[in-house]
Amino acid sequence: TLKPVITIDGPSASGKGTVAALVADKLGFHYLDSGALYRLTALYALRESVNWEDALGVARLAAQLPAAFRDGKVWLDGNDVSAAIRAEDIGMGASKVAALPEVRAALLERQRAFLVPPGLVADGRDMGSVVFPRAELKVFLTASAEVRAERRYKQLIAKGESANLDRIQLDISERDARDAARAVAPLRQEPDARLLDTSALTIDQAVDQVLAWFAAV
Ligand code: C5P
Repeated sequence: TLKPVITIDGPSASGKGTVAALVADKLGFHYLDSGALYRLTALYALRESVNWEDALGVARLAAQLPAAFRDGKVWLDGNDVSAAIRAEDIGMGASKVAALPEVRAALLERQRAFLVPPGLVADGRDMGSVVFPRAELKVFLTASAEVRAERRYKQLIAKGESANLDRIQLDISERDARDAARAVAPLRQEPDARLLDTSALTIDQAVDQVLAWFAAV
């Protein structure tokens, strides 16, 4: 096919974003960070004073999200929001708006539009199950809860932010529980997805494994 897809789904702070971006880079493929769209939607709702529980209101915003991915940055209404969408409260808001079927429907076509030649690496929760069910390679990338909390902790410290490991562990498990329990597009490993547990792997090892799988499909 002229437009192969690799989907990388998994829980928060598993490192799937880092691995997905590097795999895309190595292959010269496009990259879709679908979580960023949910984060943008949460941030946009906050700025437009629309409640995260207001399904129709948030879906309306999602359908006309004035967002762009350009120069390695994420833009909302012409403002660089790359850092703002990574805040922990926006991650929590993203997981709340992502549980609304109306919001997921509003973002579906926008995600599929990322699939253009020479190919795409897409990361998220439902890339292999809903958005790109016919992907050539589906990966479910995870790591133990302890390792994920530690990675998120180090990320925050590196950014010069204050961080509390227990708090992070609680936040991650709350977000995972909501992502896995929701009725639409819940977080789970698809039967045809390959499991990549990165608890004991370096980033390079994880990237090489995905590339090896892809070379063999
Ligand atoms: O991957 P990231 O942590 O940036 O995603 C933020 C939130 O967006 C997740 O907790 C999840 O609830 C939601 N999400 C989703 N489906 C995706 C990507 C993200 O529901 N494909």
